[in-house]
Amino acid sequence: MSRTLPPLLTERPEWQALVTHAHQLRGVHLRTLFADEPHRGEQLTAEAAGIYLDYSKNRLTGETIRLLVALAEGCGLRDQIEAMFRGEPINVTEHRPVLHVALRAPREATILVNGENVVPQVHAVLDRMADFATRLRQGEWRGYTGKPIRAVVNLGIGGSDLGPAMAYEALRWYSDRRLTFRFVSNVDPTDFVEAVRDLDPAETLFIVASKSFTTLETLTNARAAREWLLRRLGDARAVRHHFVAVSTNRSAVEAFGIDPANMFEFWDWVGGRYSLPSAIGLSLMIAIGPQHFQELLSGYRAIDEHFRSAPFAQNLPVLLGLIGLWYNNFFGAESVAILPYDQYLAKLPSYLQQLDMESNGKAVDWFGRRVTYQTGPIVWGQPGTNGQHAFFQLLHQGTKLVPCEFIGFARSLNPLGDQQDLLIANLIAQTEALAFGKTEAEVRASGVPEAQVPARTFPGNRPSTTILLEVLSPENLGKLIALYEHKVFTQGAIWQVNSFDQWGVELGKALASRILPELQQPSEPALAHDSSTNALIRWYRQHRAVSAPAT
Ligand code: F6P
Repeated sequence: MSRTLPPLLTERPEWQALVTHAHQLRGVHLRTLFADEPHRGEQLTAEAAGIYLDYSKNRLTGETIRLLVALAEGCGLRDQIEAMFRGEPINVTEHRPVLHVALRAPREATILVNGENVVPQVHAVLDRMADFATRLRQGEWRGYTGKPIRAVVNLGIGGSDLGPAMAYEALRWYSDRRLTFRFVSNVDPTDFVEAVRDLDPAETLFIVASKSFTTLETLTNARAAREWLLRRLGDARAVRHHFVAVSTNRSAVEAFGIDPANMFEFWDWVGGRYSLPSAIGLSLMIAIGPQHFQELLSGYRAIDEHFRSAPFAQNLPVLLGLIGLWYNNFFGAESVAILPYDQYLAKLPSYLQQLDMESNGKAVDWFGRRVTYQTGPIVWGQPGTNGQHAFFQLLHQGTKLVPCEFIGFARSLNPLGDQQDLLIANLIAQTEALAFGKTEAEVRASGVPEAQVPARTFPGNRPSTTILLEVLSPENLGKLIALYEHKVFTQGAIWQVNSFDQWGVELGKALASRILPELQQPSEPALAHDSSTNALIRWYRQHRAVSAPAT
């Protein structure tokens, strides 16, 4: 039976209207927009759930927002949001619901998957996590020799690493400082060796975090951890005191030798990059305690409710998504810079990189058609003010258009003199400098020698969005993450790509498993790759046996 496919995105009238509108706005400078609308700095803002969003320093007008909202509505964004919250199988290639929102639903909520309410399961696991975390924090969960656990090592990669590692760093201020936390992800042996170098196995707990429990890096590191532990403790019975697992795959956990009683479960309707509020957050919960973890979840929930109910023109994740799409599809921007002005958020750009790029780095739509427009951007960034002394040169005077997203807080958790004021003065100044620049006339008037005028002129018209919150609390971190999750959802829904699969990571994994034995064989079997791959394999074989330099 033939089905009628919706029109290609670029053929929609709302898209065409945006093409025309973008053409009109392309030559207009932010200086002109601010001169024409003196109050746009107050008007082109939105505030919800304690987040202040200023999008006035973007190359757009109220009309742009109206047209973008019309596009979102025309593309059925509202229905898509509802389909997610209702647990419909919107991950179409894997035939799964996408229900990370259920992970932070209140105890009394009902969310059905195949007719079963999943909320009680979610809370049962949260309760088990809280019980475990409390026992460990109070020194009741002991290692094999009877010593209390003092170090927690999370072994995971991708979503099973970036979320906990980012959030632990972000909420370190709230953490139990008597405990040490390490996050090992890379199959590079250095990652594991350096992480455990100063740890006492008798006091160390490993959390093997893997949704699939088949991931090469994590299982390799887990085996290395077991050997490290047994080499020192000498008894296989020690494993159950020092290993717990977080996974959807009970049989693989058991096969690895971890007691299923020490497994914290989650479900295939939670994508890896959306899994921090599930049991994948166990290391974080141990660090900050169950109460703070609950606050994190309530922050997520506040933005979930806002995303589901707020009109699009005031909806923070929708606005962020639409503004990103505006530059991506109508201004040719290739990337977006995430610039948190808080050292605790140093890992947020990497976390958002996976969230966004693994979700929307797709080139076929829901119907298997090749898209004819740009999809997910390159996401990158660094905390301020460090980035200012590294790549901001390109942001201000380079040839690329890089929309920036600044994130800042009104109060520091570590007040020290006027340093927080200095930090935020820099954040605000950067948004001003990017938008308005410094004209040739202004440079000349400041007495700069004529020969230097071109190099010292700032063109301006460089867009930025600013996100401000009161303080970096667990609740506000939850809000920030949910804000970006739903931003990514908004964009994926309009681009009609499945934001919840990641087939693009598979080919490299398969080829690596073919190449591994080829690297390890001493005499050459016929290599049947291309000439470059063959030569690389041969080079490595010739050089791999040389021992490491003495320390
Ligand atoms: O390789 C991609 C990926 O599947 C990510 O999506 C995921 O977050 C990561 O690997 C880890 O997967 P797992 O939790 O199953 O070990």
